[in-house]
Amino acid sequence: MTDDAARPPGRIVSEPGARFPVPGPRSFRTLGIETSCDETAVALLDGDGRVLAHLLSSQAAAHAPYLGVVPEIAARHHLEALPLLLDGIARDVPLDGVELVAVTRGPGLIGSLLVGTCFASAWAWARSLPLVGVDHLEGHLVSPFVSLDGEPAREAPASTLALVVSGGHSSYFLLAGGAARPLNRTRDDAAGEVFDKLAAALGLGYPGGPVIDRLAEDGDRRAFEFAAPRIKDPSGALDFSFSGLKTATMRRAAELAELPLADPGRPPQAILDLLASFRRTVVDWLLAPLDALVETHRPQVVAASGGVAANRELRRRLAEWGVVRGVEVVLPPVALTTDNAVMIARAGQLRARAGLFDDPRSLRAYPRAPWKAGADRKGRPVFPSL
Ligand code: KG4
Ligand code: ZN
Repeated sequence: MTDDAARPPGRIVSEPGARFPVPGPRSFRTLGIETSCDETAVALLDGDGRVLAHLLSSQAAAHAPYLGVVPEIAARHHLEALPLLLDGIARDVPLDGVELVAVTRGPGLIGSLLVGTCFASAWAWARSLPLVGVDHLEGHLVSPFVSLDGEPAREAPASTLALVVSGGHSSYFLLAGGAARPLNRTRDDAAGEVFDKLAAALGLGYPGGPVIDRLAEDGDRRAFEFAAPRIKDPSGALDFSFSGLKTATMRRAAELAELPLADPGRPPQAILDLLASFRRTVVDWLLAPLDALVETHRPQVVAASGGVAANRELRRRLAEWGVVRGVEVVLPPVALTTDNAVMIARAGQLRARAGLFDDPRSLRAYPRAPWKAGADRKGRPVFPSL
């Protein structure tokens, strides 16, 4: 008898008690699908979390004229792109060996999520394959432990302090004992959101993070200083707040130059200095709670993920911090910082390994996270397989 055969069958989590055959917990060759926002992505991982193929279709150009994501355009794009990406993957690696389908079920744009979840459910159902719905955040949380160099995915250590910074999140989480507990939050804008809003105000286009990051490399990061936000509530001492910084930077930019900038490709040096100072300040503030959190929670590793984890200054300074403090810092490959299907496939594998499956006939997408403070309404940890 194999180990797998000895294990109990998994269970359906989306509809407890549903009569649907599910395999026991084991390793599965997994197809991952991500459509929660403006990237359509498909990935194939072997049972050890090795990336066999992954493809992504960015919609940035379609949304750029609107300086933000237009939900209807996003959903239509996913619908067109998904079958094409799947065909593209099948040209490299045959899909008949797929044993599990993992898909993002939320949070995100509901039209986009519906395209992904319906597609994945139908694909799995037609082939009698097990299905796993994954929370988008769960995907970001596992992304630092996946490689794009042909290596198997790394097992997350028993305790990880994980910074998730994207267009929708800015929080440290403690991953330990099968739960992801948020340790702080942003009081206003998410870190990626301030990059996007600042870039929009300056006429630098969308998304703002990559362009500001690139331009900031040529600026003086000490040229401007910004006052740190004061959060009066003592329980929020480690919380973030970025909206004041965004407003102050926009005001300075308006004093320095005519906005929108006449030539966004070559902003004046004063604007480059301002962007470098802005980026340095965001990173200062993101790293500010780190020492206290490490002191309190003593994690084995510190990880960062989400679109803003592509930021060059954040990556450099986190790595330096790790060397100085003697703490291992784990960052995802830059290609896996923004939304992708590799992280969804991997998070799905971990769920399947814990025996948690969903019914392809009834998987529901959710636009907003149905959980708070790391637990669902019944107090159960939301990411039990992490
Ligand atoms: O994780 P992600 O692709 O989508 C969400 O889940 O939100 O993150 C997108 C965000 C955008 O706000 C984008 O401007 C930001 O990540 N971003 C960056 C960089 N690359 C992407 N922010 C700062 N520096 C970057 N290099
Ligand atoms: Zn994301």
